[in-house]
Amino acid sequence: MKKGKVDALLGIVFGDEGKGKVVDVFTPEYDVVARFAGGPNAGHTIIFEGKKFVLRSIPSGIFAKDKVNIIGNGCVIAPDLFMAEAKELEAAGYDLKGRLHISKRAHLILPTHRVLDRAYEAAKGKAKVGTTGKGIGPTYSDKAARIGLRVGDILDRFEEKYAALKARHKQILKDLHYTDYDITDEEKLWLEGVEYLRGFHLTDTEIEINRYLKEGKNVLAEGAQGTMLDIDHGTYPFVSSSNTTSGGVCTGLGVGPTDIREVFGIFKAYSTRVGSGPFPVELFDETGDTLREVGHEYGAVTGRNRRCGWVDLVALKYAIMINGVTQLIMMKSDVMNDFETIRVATAYEIGGRTTSEFPYEITGDLRPVYTEFEGWKCDLRRYGSYEEFPEAFKRYVEFIERQTGVPVKIISVGPDRGETIVR
Ligand code: IMP
Repeated sequence: MKKGKVDALLGIVFGDEGKGKVVDVFTPEYDVVARFAGGPNAGHTIIFEGKKFVLRSIPSGIFAKDKVNIIGNGCVIAPDLFMAEAKELEAAGYDLKGRLHISKRAHLILPTHRVLDRAYEAAKGKAKVGTTGKGIGPTYSDKAARIGLRVGDILDRFEEKYAALKARHKQILKDLHYTDYDITDEEKLWLEGVEYLRGFHLTDTEIEINRYLKEGKNVLAEGAQGTMLDIDHGTYPFVSSSNTTSGGVCTGLGVGPTDIREVFGIFKAYSTRVGSGPFPVELFDETGDTLREVGHEYGAVTGRNRRCGWVDLVALKYAIMINGVTQLIMMKSDVMNDFETIRVATAYEIGGRTTSEFPYEITGDLRPVYTEFEGWKCDLRRYGSYEEFPEAFKRYVEFIERQTGVPVKIISVGPDRGETIVR
């Protein structure tokens, strides 16, 4: 039997590219949908049968009742938030128990990890990362320091292990003079969440996934966040704490690189960023406000305003290189329907020198070099195929293809599943 393959679906900018919608469109083609990195810092919004769901830890394939969904070993999971998310889905009629498999190797986010997240951010002052406050950094730090708690730990002498790590966290908080916190209610809910988690299929998901592949089944690896937030390749230190890139698919699911077939890179027809950190193409004017308003660019997890700007081809090409992207997917093209002109950054000018390579550090003297396009000034939702799109829009898409050397295979022109043009 022919072995199955893993296709990766990755945000290749700063996250929030609209992965949830694409997973939903792609799911029928796969047997398994798996998350490989991140945790409840993600907020994948899906509008399904008229109801809006925001998924944080659960893969977006959960709405297709015949698919297996996996939370892989590279993920971090907060039992209380997981319980809330799962119960909402169960209340809406989605039975998760047989279909959601969770890696015993995924790490647990403790209530004190969230306090540490806040404490570290407070200590950084103006240099804060602007995290989602979900305890992501401290949890991955404990993983790397080899002191973290894993999902498998809840099956054996859990209370003892939990008490030891909590005590360690409390000591760190005391040393930081961060003592004004109370986790009593949160902890109660968290422990309920641990109990609830015990009712799920907690397993060696890497063995399971490889068995599926052997049986000829195909897996969709659903990314979280984006390449520029990757701990190794993003705009460090203004990044998340996991590998959000295609390398993270291998480590976060336990599959070999030769099992990966397509790497779909998702980007928006403009750019956004939440939290602090460099964003050279950011617009501080009315155009930026229009992108935010029309594109509803407010954080799914924190509700914060997203910073908005033009597409940055320097960053995009870097992300395509790091991930080995084979196909591009352009989202939210309709947001710029009324724009007279549209710009794309093709290079950076740094201290009088022009470069198209993404630099080690983005400093204040960096200026993007833009190419300008005429807007298409019509509603893209009117068109049913790529050929029908107005010439101005095709010029924009084809410029991005030429510059990146990667085909734009899918174009999304609205939030609905049907508003998706496949070429
Ligand atoms: P953390 O992942 O909560 O530690 O946050 C680190 C940085 O990543 C912050 O700038 C967050 O705003 C950003 N971030 C984390 N998750 C997401 C996401 O799902 N979409 C966009 N930005 C994110």
